[in-house]
Amino acid sequence: MQSAAGATMRPREFLAELLAIEPVMGDSAILTFTAPEGFAKAVGAGQFLDSLCRPESAHDPLLRRPYSICSVDRARNTFTILVRPYGRGSAWLINQPVGTLIDTLGPLGNRFEVQPKTNRLLLVAGGVGAAPLVLLAEEAVRRGQSVAYMMGAQNAEGLLPAHVLPEEVEYVVATDDGSAGAKGFVTDLVGEYLRWADQVFACGPEPMFRSLRRVVLANRIGNAPPVQVSLERTMACGLGACLGCVVETKHGMRTSCVQGPVYDMDEVIWS
Ligand SMILES: Cc1cc2nc3c(=O)[nH]c(=O)nc-3n(C[C@H](O)[C@H](O)[C@H](O)COP(=O)(O)OP(=O)(O)OC[C@H]3O[C@@H](n4cnc5c(N)ncnc54)[C@H](O)[C@@H]3O)c2cc1C
Ligand code: FES
Repeated sequence: MQSAAGATMRPREFLAELLAIEPVMGDSAILTFTAPEGFAKAVGAGQFLDSLCRPESAHDPLLRRPYSICSVDRARNTFTILVRPYGRGSAWLINQPVGTLIDTLGPLGNRFEVQPKTNRLLLVAGGVGAAPLVLLAEEAVRRGQSVAYMMGAQNAEGLLPAHVLPEEVEYVVATDDGSAGAKGFVTDLVGEYLRWADQVFACGPEPMFRSLRRVVLANRIGNAPPVQVSLERTMACGLGACLGCVVETKHGMRTSCVQGPVYDMDEVIWS
């Protein structure tokens, strides 16, 4: 994975102005923000931001909350994040009016790494794991690569609206209740695309990774296609100091906030 050290922009703290709120996926929303100069061009898919999710005058919640960069508008120098209201921080963030300034730190973490020979990318998303894969799809389409973006949800309402993705992307969906796309899990659809894909990229809940790994190991030839996963770990400092976010890999413990959140699936020790 491309390390944060290789990124073209060092993490910095800035005030991002909330420009727009688009409700999506039932209870979630895509929030659009202003960015510091050069930000939209410098960030890469997989990187995330650490946002203070409280008013300036308050102290709770104390710690910043991590959110993947979902998309960027290079011309307007804005970015979006996709927020699901899990708890008090995210519920506060999603309920702020347009014009609110959010204290933001970033870009943080490493990026998905697309190999030079890759032409076909299979992206597998679950829940808010859809976010970093939107930016990856945007980057791939800009390079002229083919993208199949798979998403699973409980029902049609839980899916990312198609207009969020570049129109060149093939959007394949699965729902538990069959209300949109194939009935069943998104990972049920992965097998038939594995021979097509040069690389696979995934982000979603832990059970999705486990079933994705099962399908990949059962269907792939040797180590092809390689699979990169973006893992969500609870974070405190976001800067590699507290070791609260480590992931065990074949090369030792890796901090998710600096050396992750993107890992090669084959290098993670899956307990
Ligand atoms: C690298 C990274 C990228 C992320 N990207 C996104 C993103 O793009 N969009 C997004 O909505 N979230 C994302 N998250 C998760 C997000 O950071 C958490 O949802 C957020 O920190 C929750 O804070 P809170 O104050 O709302 O919840 P808290 O008050 O801290 O927690 C409330 C309850 O929700 C549970 N909870 C918290 N987070 C999650 C979770 N992720 N899944 C299930 N239960 C949870 C807690 O265990 C607790 O029971 C990301 C996390 C990481 C590490
Ligand atoms: S959150 Fe502290 S080391 Fe990653």
